Amino acid sequence: MTYLNLHDLEPLARAKLPAPIFDFIAGGAEDEVTLRANRAAFEAIEFRPRVLVGVSKVDTSTTLLGRTLPFPVGLAPVAMHRLVHPEGETATARAAAQAGALMILSTMSTVSIEDVAAAADGPKWFQLYCYRDRAVTERLVKRAETAGYEALCLTVDTPRLGRRERDFRNALVLPPEAVLVNFLGEIDLESVDSGRFGSALAASAASLLDPSLTWESVAWLKSITSMPVLVKGVLTPEDALLAIKHGASGIVVSNHGGRQLDGSPAPITVLAEIAGAVGGHAELIVDGGVRRGTDVVKALALGAKAVLIGRPYIWGLTIDGEAGVTSVLEQLRLEFELAMALCGVTSVDQITRRLVRAPWLA
Ligand code: FNR
Repeated sequence: MTYLNLHDLEPLARAKLPAPIFDFIAGGAEDEVTLRANRAAFEAIEFRPRVLVGVSKVDTSTTLLGRTLPFPVGLAPVAMHRLVHPEGETATARAAAQAGALMILSTMSTVSIEDVAAAADGPKWFQLYCYRDRAVTERLVKRAETAGYEALCLTVDTPRLGRRERDFRNALVLPPEAVLVNFLGEIDLESVDSGRFGSALAASAASLLDPSLTWESVAWLKSITSMPVLVKGVLTPEDALLAIKHGASGIVVSNHGGRQLDGSPAPITVLAEIAGAVGGHAELIVDGGVRRGTDVVKALALGAKAVLIGRPYIWGLTIDGEAGVTSVLEQLRLEFELAMALCGVTSVDQITRRLVRAPWLA
């Protein structure tokens, strides 16, 4: 796999995948304004680098919910890895473990909660959607807890599925290998009527989600598990404070990679105000458009403890399976270390707000 940076991976993956599958992964909601904004926002941030501070040793390690990680980049929950590689989430888990990186397993995985846990023993969290049937949700939570996942990440920006028009245009249908294995025996996916949604995929996902969800669900989750709960998909200080009030240990500032509400802001542009409101009462993670080591520095400077990447590692998985994901993580780690050195910082706690400027910051 020869490439210079994470941007190079997308055309390589595109050449390997059926067009509807590529579009499903690459695409965003409606006019994809938010999808583009996620990148543009990172590009609009500039550094205030410091010089002559002695950077012969740069320590990229950090802690997240009390766990030490070699560098502050984790794998975002992404549905159905077997769409792009036969080993699916097993390969991803092995690559994450090898890098010491956090993997957040999607509920919509194509390898089961237990088999992913058994594949590798790196740090793992479980991403949850709350389902109409609370008993189904509760069983998923218990399975994740028993299998050794360390935290629950409740995704809250998906009361309904965003309108991803590429999928409609392509009349995307799930190929047979994309079985949502965690639901086998729980929900009869065969019975889902795809007509209203134009794609069976959208229909099956949408039919599982509970649109009546409120903040009470966070407190309920806390009551049925001893795992810390994080809320993924927050974009305002108001909601960040509500998340903390209802017991969240962490918040993932995210717009679902531009796949839900088109017109929502790039998460990196709202991170600083959320960090200001939260004031250290919950750990902040940001995702959406992270493609460079410099982006990781920017995110930490604005208040994140760590970032997540979505599409880039899926492209790595597409191109070269486990080795592809390993390579993507290593590329970002090297870029992050270089960016720290060039910014004049030698540890992550030296990355502060004073290191960056951006049009939206006072
Ligand atoms: C996602 N994302 C997602 N999020 C989640 O909470 N549960 C899920 O099952 C999925 N599935 C999913 C599938 C695909 C194909 C994509 C691209 C994304 C969103 C994901 O966790 C993350 O927020 C974004 O992918 C981050 O943006 P980038 O890095 O892809 O720009």
